Amino acid sequence: MIYLRAEMIAPESIQQVISRSDIVEVIGQFLKLRKRGANYIANCPFHNEKTPSFNINPSKGIYKCFGCGKGGDVVSFVEEYEKFSFVEAIRWLANYYQIELNETEAPEEYKHQQQVEESLRIVNEFAAAYFQDILLNHEEGRLIGGSYFEERGFRRHIIEQFRLGYCLDKWDGFVTEALARGYSLELLEKAGLVKTRDGGRPYDNYKGRVIFPIFSATGRILGFGARILKKAEHAPKYVNSPENELYVKNKVLYGLYQSRQSIGKLDECFLVEGYTDVISLHQAGVTNVVASSGTSLTEGQLKLIGNLTRNLTILYDGDAAGIKAAMRGLDMALAESFNVKLVLLPDGEDPDSFVQKSGAEAFKQYVETHKRDVIGFRLEVGLKEAGNDPVKKSQLVNEIAETISRINKTEDFTLQQYYLRESATRLQIDEEGLVHLVNKFIRERLQQERRQKERKQGRDAEEAPDDTTAAMYAAEAEPSAVSDIFSKDNRQELQLLKVLLEYGDKPYEESGTVAQFFFETLDVDLLEHPLVKRIVLLYYEYWVTHHQLPDTKYFTSHLEKPIREMAAEVLHIKFSPSENWVKKHKVEVLFGENVYDADIKSTFSYFELKLLRRMLAENMQQLQQEKDMQKVMALMKTHQGLKQREKELMALVIVR
Ligand code: GTP
Ligand code: MN
Repeated sequence: MIYLRAEMIAPESIQQVISRSDIVEVIGQFLKLRKRGANYIANCPFHNEKTPSFNINPSKGIYKCFGCGKGGDVVSFVEEYEKFSFVEAIRWLANYYQIELNETEAPEEYKHQQQVEESLRIVNEFAAAYFQDILLNHEEGRLIGGSYFEERGFRRHIIEQFRLGYCLDKWDGFVTEALARGYSLELLEKAGLVKTRDGGRPYDNYKGRVIFPIFSATGRILGFGARILKKAEHAPKYVNSPENELYVKNKVLYGLYQSRQSIGKLDECFLVEGYTDVISLHQAGVTNVVASSGTSLTEGQLKLIGNLTRNLTILYDGDAAGIKAAMRGLDMALAESFNVKLVLLPDGEDPDSFVQKSGAEAFKQYVETHKRDVIGFRLEVGLKEAGNDPVKKSQLVNEIAETISRINKTEDFTLQQYYLRESATRLQIDEEGLVHLVNKFIRERLQQERRQKERKQGRDAEEAPDDTTAAMYAAEAEPSAVSDIFSKDNRQELQLLKVLLEYGDKPYEESGTVAQFFFETLDVDLLEHPLVKRIVLLYYEYWVTHHQLPDTKYFTSHLEKPIREMAAEVLHIKFSPSENWVKKHKVEVLFGENVYDADIKSTFSYFELKLLRRMLAENMQQLQQEKDMQKVMALMKTHQGLKQREKELMALVIVR
């Protein structure tokens, strides 16, 4: 959606806004800045701190917090600070600088979608205002709706903040008013506000219910939840808006709009089940909370949370249904690398009833003392369930191993180790056995993925190299010092990207420029970090199509947020040669303050080494299969040559 709308502001306009925007001036609107050297510093607005680690570099037009790692350009600051989308941030800046945006013609189908969305938004806005007016000013509204909320302990300010309302207990209170205002019946029905029985008269869908408007992240009303007041046999407790162009259930989180600032600031999001849980917690001052609204968590909802924090704490009822619901969201959150914690509330309580009864302090304390990580939670529930049943217990062992295998090992190695030890102890099994089981799950998943990939590419399975022999060659071809260097992979790739983005146009060796050398000698497929690779390819594409090198702004203000963030991040990397290096080689200052010829050479050498390693492995493989003595000799010679070059390169790579 965001991208569709982005296409409606002309790219020149976006460019104009970006180049007009002064990062110091804009951030100065929000934060108190202090000058330090050529830069500015401030207390970071994105995490709590007392000494400023938030840094603005005016000449590069970027900011970076060395405490929490957030960084980007002027647009991403406005996005992050106001929790805006890219387009909203552009509009905000355009308004600030009084720049008129040039809106391009959108394709017909988008325009239609936009119009429908816009009408739904307008009618929802009208309905919310109408329902709240009834609640606050109409006699029946005050008497029935008002006293209901009063009973539940909701005070006036919270009712206003969440724009709660009431729909009169007669058939056509709202629909009559809406039709008189000129809203079409078709639109009212699409929005789910009004229903019509075959041939009958239209009637209010939320008749006699209290109303909970559901907001988008930026405060627009997407739909409603409407709660019945008394228990009724056949009527559902809540009636919700139907899915339409605006209300897409799995991309909505109740409370996100009211909680987003606080979620970012506290760097944690509480997830609860119901509307009333969100409201009561807010009223008690716990403001970093959203509700999944009765369904289990979806990927779209996780994305919304992921924009604000990676720390998710799920608070569900301690009953069986609550546990089941919590379980379902878990694997997904784990796979998306969230740091997930779970809290089960005492039997029969939900966050609303708990906080209303015991207050915010007791609530916070309960949460802190009852937080379980995913594995701990599974163990606790599982062990209780299994009791002394050996079959159930072995099922549990399998389940736990499966869950552990899902933890992203490269990112969270120590965490995985911790879980392995902890689980083995609590399950009273041998840790080594558990490790084997976990590895089995990982292997199976990898195999499955590979098979899927092969099927997709229609490749012959026989061509796939045999795992064990390939591993043997690799081990042979790779002396241990090299593997030490390669364990710093990520950093080297970021450095390489920095060299390209920042110094691409500088002269280098015989090739001409750094960029030329880069693309002439290095194989882009050697890059393992997908985002780095993508940016490098974008760089190349720009070069080829524009016949000039892109400037860093092209990336720091790119439409896609991950690209902007990565660019800002690598621009902040500081190079510094190790002391040994300075002693061993004469280091010349080459490209500006902190960058040395040696750094660039080191970065390139690293990738040449990688290439070399691949060649060595291939050579070794041929060597093993070759029967012809003469060819064996030739291959041996190549091997020696490669080894020699490897030595040279090893001396050039700076290991930090
Ligand atoms: P109160 O009972 O008023 O405190 O509401 P609650 O939010 O605690 O309700 P509950 O825990 O029963 O349900 C949690 C959430 O599930 C609700 O906030 C709704 O979003 C959703 N839900 C519950 N019942 C229904 C229903 O009958 N229909 C629909 N569509 N959603 C429901
Ligand atoms: Mn409740």
